[in-house]
Amino acid sequence: MNIVVLSGSPRKGANTDTMVEAFAETAREDGNTVEVVRVASKKISGCLGCQYCFTHEGTCVQKDDMANVIESLKGADMVVFASPIYWFDITAQEKAAIDRLYAFGATGFPFTKT
Ligand SMILES: Cc1cc2nc3c(=O)[nH]c(=O)nc-3n(C[C@H](O)[C@H](O)[C@H](O)COP(=O)(O)O)c2cc1C
Repeated sequence: MNIVVLSGSPRKGANTDTMVEAFAETAREDGNTVEVVRVASKKISGCLGCQYCFTHEGTCVQKDDMANVIESLKGADMVVFASPIYWFDITAQEKAAIDRLYAFGATGFPFTKT
């Protein structure tokens, strides 16, 4: 299985990274391919909700780092969301990336497992 992890901690080498590395190591040992995408290190703006993507085959009107994340996810069977808790919720960086998955709304989500 091809697994993509969207990791939302801005702190490199901290607790979330440790958990992601442990997951990735075990998943690879089990024969899976794992790509870890540090969304908190990328420039990903919040979704505008404009639905441009609905009429442009899933392409977002905003030109930022999310385009590459979307390309990675197109080959994914499973996506894993990893985030610290910030004020009882996931980080703003992780939420921005999740909101931008709206671009798959018109074309369909490639992954079947979360
Ligand atoms: C802005 C901010 C808000 C936080 N809010 C919570 C919280 O609501 N509940 C909690 O248990 N920990 C909270 N924490 C602590 C982090 O979840 C914790 O330190 C976590 O291990 C950070 O992940 P990291 O090591 O990958 O950076 C908060 C930390 C920060 C910086």
